[in-house]
Amino acid sequence: MASVAPTYYTNQVQVTDEAASFSPSVLEEMDSHLAKYPSERKRSALIPLLFVIQRERGYVDNAGVNFLAKFLDLEVTDVWETVTFYSMFNLRKIGRHHIQICKTLSCRVMGEPEITEHVCNKLGIYVGETTADEKYTVSLVECLGSCGTAPMMQIGFDYHEDLTTEKVDRILDSLK
Ligand code: FES
Repeated sequence: MASVAPTYYTNQVQVTDEAASFSPSVLEEMDSHLAKYPSERKRSALIPLLFVIQRERGYVDNAGVNFLAKFLDLEVTDVWETVTFYSMFNLRKIGRHHIQICKTLSCRVMGEPEITEHVCNKLGIYVGETTADEKYTVSLVECLGSCGTAPMMQIGFDYHEDLTTEKVDRILDSLK
């Protein structure tokens, strides 16, 4: 099976005016992030707050973005441009293990296509998809800053480097 679906996944979202709400403890946590920055520089808290949104809602959704825009006195587009720039923010529900394979130059020439195809074949999904049991999601991402140990992938917060198909098998088999 090829690793990229004929209809390639796109991060399309439906934009509405709905805004998320959060518990008092989460709001308190958000305020504590905001307090780290000067009041005229609220925007500086955007990335830590996006991590809170992602943790609380499972991914960064439209309602979470609308909430943050109001919370930080930003335009909704200001929030979306940050969310869609960084691959660490997910725009949809992902599996328990998010496998992010680097597709940039060093990894590409050192075997990324073979690694991607191997991962996808092993899991039975295309890039951008999640397995039916919601355990794995596979994404291709830009350089993760580990070019000297290409090809590499990130799963959760862990880097796996100098990949071979045998090493990929061992890593995937070790995931619970
Ligand atoms: S090119 Fe893959 S980590 Fe930089």
